[in-house]
Amino acid sequence: MFNDLSSLSSYLPSRRSGRPRNMIAPGPSDKQIEDIVATALRTPDHGKLAPWRVVRVDSDQRGRLATELVKAYRTEKPDAGRLELEALDAMAHQAPTLLVVLFSPVTSTKIPIWEQELSCGAFCMNIIHAIHARDFVGGWITGWPSYNDDVRDLFGEASERIAGFIFAGTTDCELAERPRPELASILSKWKIEQ
Ligand SMILES: Cc1cc2nc3c(=O)[nH]c(=O)nc-3n(C[C@H](O)[C@H](O)[C@H](O)COP(=O)(O)O)c2cc1C
Repeated sequence: MFNDLSSLSSYLPSRRSGRPRNMIAPGPSDKQIEDIVATALRTPDHGKLAPWRVVRVDSDQRGRLATELVKAYRTEKPDAGRLELEALDAMAHQAPTLLVVLFSPVTSTKIPIWEQELSCGAFCMNIIHAIHARDFVGGWITGWPSYNDDVRDLFGEASERIAGFIFAGTTDCELAERPRPELASILSKWKIEQ
């Protein structure tokens, strides 16, 4: 069973993202979206900088998002083919809920950017957990739009970066397992000469 919500210790080892293209209504309500992001405010954050923020893209804005993604893609790749543009259009329209997470680094501090990036990743992860805690599925993707400055400008400032597009909704198919690393390849004892 995936995303077993019977307890926190059951949920965490059974956590599984959904595929945004397989997400259908219902998605989180406006109040649930607020609660999801409020939960993620408890993310570890060295220096209390909050180097992250979220922009909601509502369902009546998806068409505009698709238009803007296609425009930015064509600017970068004038020879773009129909299939590439259709994929962008599909991305913009998929899933009931879309949250764009921005990494907003603070440079006027001694806290290294690397630590701020780590915090932003944890922030995204907490959003996913908070989505799942409400019995929806979440999915965190990046892809071409996350690395294009024109797309970034749709949501944030030049100093910011898109950390991810987090989609949420109800999965229209059974979640399936994916390969995970062997524990022994990840966890080791410290070996140091005496
Ligand atoms: C920063 C980041 C970017 C990602 N971008 C994509 C992506 O563009 N497309 C994709 O299919 N999965 C992407 N993933 C992976 C999915 O979020 C997800 O982790 C994966 O499908 C496995 O599911 P799981 O979360 O249940 O392990 C990304 C993950 C991270 C951390």
